[in-house]
Amino acid sequence: MKRKIVVGNWKMNGSLAFNEALLKALVEKIPKALSLDIIVCSPYPYLFQVQSFLKKSPIRWGAQNVAKFESGAFTGEVSVSMLKEFGSSYVIIGHSERSTAYCESDENIATKFMMVKKAAMTPILCVGETLIEREAGIMEKVISKQLDTIIKMYGEEIFDQTVIAYEPIWAIGSDMAASPEQAQAMHHFIREKLSLHTNVSKSLKIIYGGSVNPQNALQLFSMPDVDGGLLGRASLNASDFQSICHSAEI
Ligand code: 13P
Repeated sequence: MKRKIVVGNWKMNGSLAFNEALLKALVEKIPKALSLDIIVCSPYPYLFQVQSFLKKSPIRWGAQNVAKFESGAFTGEVSVSMLKEFGSSYVIIGHSERSTAYCESDENIATKFMMVKKAAMTPILCVGETLIEREAGIMEKVISKQLDTIIKMYGEEIFDQTVIAYEPIWAIGSDMAASPEQAQAMHHFIREKLSLHTNVSKSLKIIYGGSVNPQNALQLFSMPDVDGGLLGRASLNASDFQSICHSAEI
């Protein structure tokens, strides 16, 4: 059984006061010795605060996006080296809320994925289909295409020691998570697709995101190809987050 990983994506939520209360509660509730990896991805301006609270805890932290360039005249962007300066070890790439709202292309996502890897941080690549695509039965084709751009640009080996989050777009922010069987089927498909390289199939973690909550976490995490979860709303509540982390303990 692989060590599981639970990632909190705060999205555009929080304030100095809110974060302080949440981080204090997490440090208090989450045991010092963990049998899973726990990561918190905050908005950029709070990375210093998150680092200050979590540096002595086993919880790691990271960002929700990054620039595809190293530095230069890119107003409003944040580089991998800036994220590293604040101790980030993970970066979410290609979240559907970004790809839809900011028209992020698969090529952009692939470049960001490579930049994060090159900077010795772990990319968490989000893939997922819309409800229309699922109803049309083309969800595997859609996910394949999202992965193929990265494979074409950098080879399958780039997925070694990385995380893929399967986040069906219809499940995000709804109260309709994928069923454990639906999640398992897609995770299995992704794992099979990337199983040509033994290193990749051994080290790659595939986590599920989209309306994970304390009630459905255990069932989802019990599926053989589900290595953990990417949580939105539940990551903003210390008790829910802790309870979900508990469900992921081996
Ligand atoms: P919810 O858990 O709020 O559905 O959000 C999921 C998500 O988008 C995590 O990245």
